[in-house]
Amino acid sequence: MIVCVCRRVTEREIRVAVRTGGASCLDSLGVELGVATQCGRCGDCARRIVCEEMGRTAASPTAGDERRASFAAAAATA
Ligand code: FES
Repeated sequence: MIVCVCRRVTEREIRVAVRTGGASCLDSLGVELGVATQCGRCGDCARRIVCEEMGRTAASPTAGDERRASFAAAAATA
C-alpha cells in the first residue's frame, strides 16, 4: 500500500526503514525516505506505522514530537 503519494513510499518501505534502524520517528523517516516532506497528509499514517514497528502506541511521543514540544515551550517563555 502506498502511504506517501507525493514520494511514492509504501508501507513496506517504511517498515523496512524502521526495522533496519534507518528511521525511528517521523522526522528521521522524512530524512530517510522523504515521507511527509511535501504535502504532509501521510504523516499520521506513517507515524502509526513507525509506532507499530517500534512497539509503542501512536499516542506515545516520538523524538521529533518531543523536540517540537521543547521548542514550543521555549518559544512560549521567550
Ligand atoms: S503524501 Fe506524503 S508528503 Fe504528500
